[in-house]
Amino acid sequence: MEGVTLLLFGLAMLNNLAATTVRDIIKTVQPLNDGQIIVSAGETFALGFFSPGNSKNRYVGIWYHKIPIQTLVWIANRDNPLADSSGVLMLNESGVLALLNHNKSVIWSSNSSRSAKYPVAKLLDTGNFIVQDGNNNNDSRDSLWQSFDHPVDTVLPGQKLGRSIITGLNWYLSSWNNSDDPSQGIYNIQVDTGGYPQFVLREGTVKIYRFGPWNGIHSGGSPLVQQNSALIFTYVSNEEETYVMYDFIHKSTSFRMVLATDGNFKGVYWSDEENGWAEFARAPVDVCDSYEKCGAYASCNINNAPLCDCLDGFVQKTTYTDSDCVRRTSLSCHGDGFLKFSGLKLPDTERSWFDKNISLMDCSILCMKNCSCTAYAALDISKGTRGCLLWFNDLTDIKKVTEVDQDIYIRMAGAEVGERHANSIINEHDKEDVELPILDLSEISSATNNFSSDNKLGQGGFGSVYKGTLNDGREIAVKRLSENSRQGLQEFKNEVMHIAKLQHRNLVRLLGCCIQAGERLLVYEFMPNKSLDSFIFDEKKSMLLDWPRRLVIINGIARGLLYLHQDSRHRIVHRDLKAGNVLLDSELNPKISDFGLARSFGGNETGANTNHVVGTYGYMPPEYIFEGAYSTKLDVFSFGVLILEIVCGKRNRGFYHEDNLLGHAWRLFTEGKCCEIVDATIKDSLNLSAALRAIHVGLLCVQLSPDDRPNMSSVVLMLTSESALPQPKVPGFFTNRNVVGDSSSPSTHNQYSNNEMTVSLMSAR
Ligand SMILES: *[C@@H]1O[C@H](CO)[C@@H](O)[C@H](O)[C@H]1NC(C)=O
Ligand SMILES: *[C@@H]1O[C@H](CO)[C@@H](O)[C@H](O)[C@H]1NC(C)=O
Ligand SMILES: *[C@@H]1O[C@H](CO)[C@@H](O)[C@H](O)[C@H]1NC(C)=O
Ligand SMILES: *[C@@H]1O[C@H](CO)[C@@H](O)[C@H](O)[C@H]1NC(C)=O
Ligand SMILES: *[C@@H]1O[C@H](CO)[C@@H](O)[C@H](O)[C@H]1NC(C)=O
Ligand SMILES: *[C@@H]1O[C@H](CO)[C@@H](O)[C@H](O)[C@H]1NC(C)=O
Ligand SMILES: *[C@@H]1O[C@H](CO)[C@@H](O)[C@H](O)[C@H]1NC(C)=O
Ligand SMILES: *[C@@H]1O[C@H](CO)[C@@H](O)[C@H](O)[C@H]1NC(C)=O
Ligand SMILES: *[C@@H]1O[C@H](CO)[C@@H](O)[C@H](O)[C@H]1NC(C)=O
Ligand SMILES: *[C@@H]1O[C@H](CO)[C@@H](O)[C@H](O)[C@H]1NC(C)=O
Ligand SMILES: *[C@@H]1O[C@H](CO)[C@@H](O)[C@H](O)[C@H]1NC(C)=O
Ligand SMILES: *[C@@H]1O[C@H](CO)[C@@H](O)[C@H](O)[C@H]1NC(C)=O
Repeated sequence: MEGVTLLLFGLAMLNNLAATTVRDIIKTVQPLNDGQIIVSAGETFALGFFSPGNSKNRYVGIWYHKIPIQTLVWIANRDNPLADSSGVLMLNESGVLALLNHNKSVIWSSNSSRSAKYPVAKLLDTGNFIVQDGNNNNDSRDSLWQSFDHPVDTVLPGQKLGRSIITGLNWYLSSWNNSDDPSQGIYNIQVDTGGYPQFVLREGTVKIYRFGPWNGIHSGGSPLVQQNSALIFTYVSNEEETYVMYDFIHKSTSFRMVLATDGNFKGVYWSDEENGWAEFARAPVDVCDSYEKCGAYASCNINNAPLCDCLDGFVQKTTYTDSDCVRRTSLSCHGDGFLKFSGLKLPDTERSWFDKNISLMDCSILCMKNCSCTAYAALDISKGTRGCLLWFNDLTDIKKVTEVDQDIYIRMAGAEVGERHANSIINEHDKEDVELPILDLSEISSATNNFSSDNKLGQGGFGSVYKGTLNDGREIAVKRLSENSRQGLQEFKNEVMHIAKLQHRNLVRLLGCCIQAGERLLVYEFMPNKSLDSFIFDEKKSMLLDWPRRLVIINGIARGLLYLHQDSRHRIVHRDLKAGNVLLDSELNPKISDFGLARSFGGNETGANTNHVVGTYGYMPPEYIFEGAYSTKLDVFSFGVLILEIVCGKRNRGFYHEDNLLGHAWRLFTEGKCCEIVDATIKDSLNLSAALRAIHVGLLCVQLSPDDRPNMSSVVLMLTSESALPQPKVPGFFTNRNVVGDSSSPSTHNQYSNNEMTVSLMSAR
């Protein structure tokens, strides 16, 4: 009889019962008859036979032992009542609980994958009724079976609601049919694990309320499922199981959550003063909680009339019957950006995708890459915005909520993002307003070993570039603006503004930025093979780029430039295209980088003037140097220089130089001796006709007059087709005597003669 407590207990207050013996276990030799109860060791819960409300049916269930209003928290045979009081609950030798009726038919039984040697069924003070092997502990984790795995309409502290992938158990709630009938009613709450797990309240099979997805702290938008001073939630989601569990701090007070017959999910506690159950919180709360109260891309705000309002950037569909909102500017995929929204209950995650290990930065990149991705958000805001949640459908069931702790970034056409963010970066440089991922200084700092000199890749006009490795192993290049570079901040903002919007395989990808503690950092994907100039002007490394590869590089740069000039939303002039700004990825594909000097044009604008001439000698056309005039034809000139450098393997020394590459190429071209200038290291792999064509196109690009230079779409066409090419004229800067005017003296220019260096000077006006 080890440990069995037999207590005599007066049950006067529970007058629908006539129990005589009290214990906390059922053993194989001691079945429980109608009229008997077992009571947990601390006398919190009782288990026995009962009839609900006005019903005469008998059920086996668990209720609070000391609470005068009989309150059921679990029922064994909710769908199979006993017609009379002849029922017996017994435990057989293998540990299976069975409820037998008058003719000994099993009307309900427990189920277990294991069997026990000395099975005991025991009611714990948590309200959990467990079957275990031997009566030697109170640990439900050892149990063969437990009532907590088979909830009815109530979830108690410590009980899981969710799903086990391992056992297939679905811990869900379903309401009683009515107060006299505990059989399954129409309302149920269960976790949907199709996308990112979320708990959903349904009427039958129809969703009527969604508990927002768990964000590391609470279930967004659901006051009942939020950490507070009295409730502590645990949320677990892994390969084995997904569940939420809570604890009520005031252990001495009885607390439960129940899905009531009216479809309300309530948290209630026992109040001695009121001698009844007092409501703590409930869900749904208001009409805005009704599932999809408003249409797609609309948010429901209980304080507004009308309740539904389109999100920023969206407008009401014109059809009267349709409550959906549609985009003011339709998406174009590659020109899109993201707008951040705060204070919204996250949209339905039914068709979402998530990864707990991806940073918010990578999350935004993933979303940007896939044109059907409509939004992203961090999964776990408790750990500093970790994890990635992506939506692939129209965003629905959005509600305005008061807590503003979790942001969602919604895909928007470039135009919707552009205006807003161009302004916000310029005017506020408030890091919160940039749609580009904002990285934490500490993350970048540790990625680059605190910007150690070992990690330094190079030094540019505006600061240094470091190599870094993020925690997830990804390699990055970090451009760190020198702190005293006054000019740098403007360039920085400029670069962020321009490149954040650009997406092309021949442009280097900006991954994020950081403006913090006086630091201004730009984080790019790392290009393992450095810049083009490190190959073509290096005697040994130039051999690694054979002719076919050089042609791929030329065409890639052309396409990147074409995108900048024409395909991206804003026409962009790079203004500093040179071999040093063309990076090579692991497969030696070219990527244009360094947008610090880029300028964009809106509308039908095609050019502009500046008195602040910046760029690199050798690549700058005459009209720019002497008049400050620039247009896309500025880049075309630089591109022409680049073609000639790639084919010849020589630097263009600048227009005043005796050994000017353009002049040299022009002379040999007119003399029909072009092949003489081709880089000797690629002779073996050379396709002469293709090389001649490239030189020809290069010369067309460096024409003196911008109007004589082809645009980039023509250039791409010329490079890739066999069509006849126009005859080039004398290039700009053929010789300094021919072309260069008297507006600047050679002595001022000599100090800039190295085309490695990006210069910045005020032109003499
Ligand atoms: C206990 O009951 C289960 C289910 O009815 C049955 O499969 C099992 O054989 C029984 N064990 C014994 C020892 O009677
Ligand atoms: C047991 O009784 C029920 C009615 O209460 C009846 O439907 C069933 O056939 C009976 N079973 C046996 C084995 O007698
Ligand atoms: C009992 O559990 C097994 C697996 O453990 C399952 O296949 C079976 O459907 C369950 N039976 C009942 C009545 O729940
Ligand atoms: C189980 O819990 C009860 C009440 O808390 C306690 O009296 C008993 O000693 C416990 N039994 C074991 C084996 O820990
Ligand atoms: C649920 O209760 C209603 C009356 O409230 C009754 O008509 C219906 O049959 C019950 N459903 C079930 C499954 O018992
Ligand atoms: C996620 O990251 C953690 C820590 O970096 C690592 O232990 C875990 O294996 C990763 N999980 C997956 C699925 O990659
Ligand atoms: C975009 O994501 C969807 C959903 O995950 C997937 O089916 C599709 O293949 C993806 N498209 C691309 C281009 O990766
Ligand atoms: C980086 O700096 C921080 C604080 O200054 C220091 O704690 C850390 O050890 C440094 N890490 C390295 C790799 O130098
Ligand atoms: C380019 O980078 C990749 C990856 O680091 C490397 O494997 C490859 O050898 C490099 N190619 C050249 C030509 O250096
Ligand atoms: C742009 O085009 C509009 C008409 O298409 C014209 O009225 C306007 O003057 C043009 N602006 C410029 C700067 O050319
Ligand atoms: C050389 O390039 C031309 C295009 O300029 C092409 O038609 C021809 O097939 C190429 N020859 C070889 C051997 O690849
Ligand atoms: C580029 O130049 C070609 C040939 O002059 C012309 O037909 C075309 O319209 C131009 N494209 C743009 C976008 O200006």
